[in-house]
Amino acid sequence: MNISHFQCSLCNADYAPAQVRYVCPKHGDSGLLDVVYDYGKINSHLSPNDVSDSRDFSIWRYWELLPVENRTSIPPLRVGWTPLYSAKHLGGSLRLASLWLKDDGLNPTGSFKDRASAVVVAKGKELGVDVITAASSGNAGAALAGLAASSHVPVVVFAPHTAPEAKVAQLLIYGARVLLVKGTYDQAFELSLAASKEFGWYSRNTGYNPFTAEGKKTASLEICEQLTSQLSASHRTWSAPDRIFVAVGDGNIITGLWKGLRDLQVLGWIEKMPKLMGVQAEGAAACYNAWKAGTDVITPVDAHTISDSIRVGLPRDGTRAVRAVRETHGAYITVSDVEVLAAMRELARGEGVFAEPAGATGYAGLVKAVRDNLVDGDEQIVVVVTGNGLKDVASAMNAAGTASLIEPTLEAVRRETVDHVL
Ligand SMILES: Cc1ncc(COP(=O)(O)O)c(C=O)c1O
Ligand SMILES: [Zn+2]
Repeated sequence: MNISHFQCSLCNADYAPAQVRYVCPKHGDSGLLDVVYDYGKINSHLSPNDVSDSRDFSIWRYWELLPVENRTSIPPLRVGWTPLYSAKHLGGSLRLASLWLKDDGLNPTGSFKDRASAVVVAKGKELGVDVITAASSGNAGAALAGLAASSHVPVVVFAPHTAPEAKVAQLLIYGARVLLVKGTYDQAFELSLAASKEFGWYSRNTGYNPFTAEGKKTASLEICEQLTSQLSASHRTWSAPDRIFVAVGDGNIITGLWKGLRDLQVLGWIEKMPKLMGVQAEGAAACYNAWKAGTDVITPVDAHTISDSIRVGLPRDGTRAVRAVRETHGAYITVSDVEVLAAMRELARGEGVFAEPAGATGYAGLVKAVRDNLVDGDEQIVVVVTGNGLKDVASAMNAAGTASLIEPTLEAVRRETVDHVL
């Protein structure tokens, strides 16, 4: 394992990995830790070319940049190496020369969160923990439940009682102990932390566990590697896109994307840092507010949006999420629920990619950014689709309208199709 140390994101204090499990002891639960690697050691025996030769089509192709000690700890489900589609149709309609969709809805439990859960389950095995717990709006819990089921580790998930049915079904079918909290996601987060402390369960809570961002960073590694091979560019270094758009709730995905890019930059494997574009729902925009106000101190909001996955009042990884955007000279954007529903339709009809509302939020942000002239037409732009549309069928129906109910006659077919089209 190539970890050098943990570093507190608030005070820069360094810790040996054996010294702390979750956060910097000086700041209660908010001193989130960055995982720092021995980049010199990695570079001394590994090149981008070596990675590109790997036949391991999962996040574990980046083994040297991940915090796990034994390959035997890896959960069996295949996570990562999701497609990077060239979105020619939508790119054309937005007058963008180079638009790419990273479809993370194709992970085993249908969301980006599988990346983090795979790493945390592997770490949990190595730490010899009895139970892993997480608070989740649904996806992180489903990811933990699925990955842990494949590794036979017991799981307790705290989710808000309003979580979409499909996500709750996933939790149940994987055999997790499911606690639906009569409250918000933020309340479920606090309760899960308290239970982890009280009962000694290993917490996968987003950001609080330093390895969630490590799992999530693999999407950046993939984006740069896949872009390089699609552009038939040199493999001596990888090509980073100009911008990456992604939905932001707690801010751990965008922090993870930043971390992956930073690792590559320190290694000298990419030459430029993409601008990170964080997209939030208008009704849950705590990171946007902080970015706009020029601070990285997060003020909680009362969260309202159809995008349940990013319905977050107090983003737990907000400070790093705001910095990721500011440091890369990106921007935060807010989108309305109506814009998200339109983005769901456009992704599905334009490129055949079916996203849940939060999964389509990054694309909704791109549409708005183009409208507001925030991007140039010749930039290479990647939009991360973070969750599969089947996770929230009610929102899909809301976006798509209803089907025609017909009598079983050819006449009815004609009326609903040929005549209708004419
Ligand atoms: C589908 C989807 N998109 C985006 C996000 C936002 O990620 P984060 O909370 O790390 O900002 C989540 C988190 O639950 C999610 O499930
Ligand atoms: Zn600290």
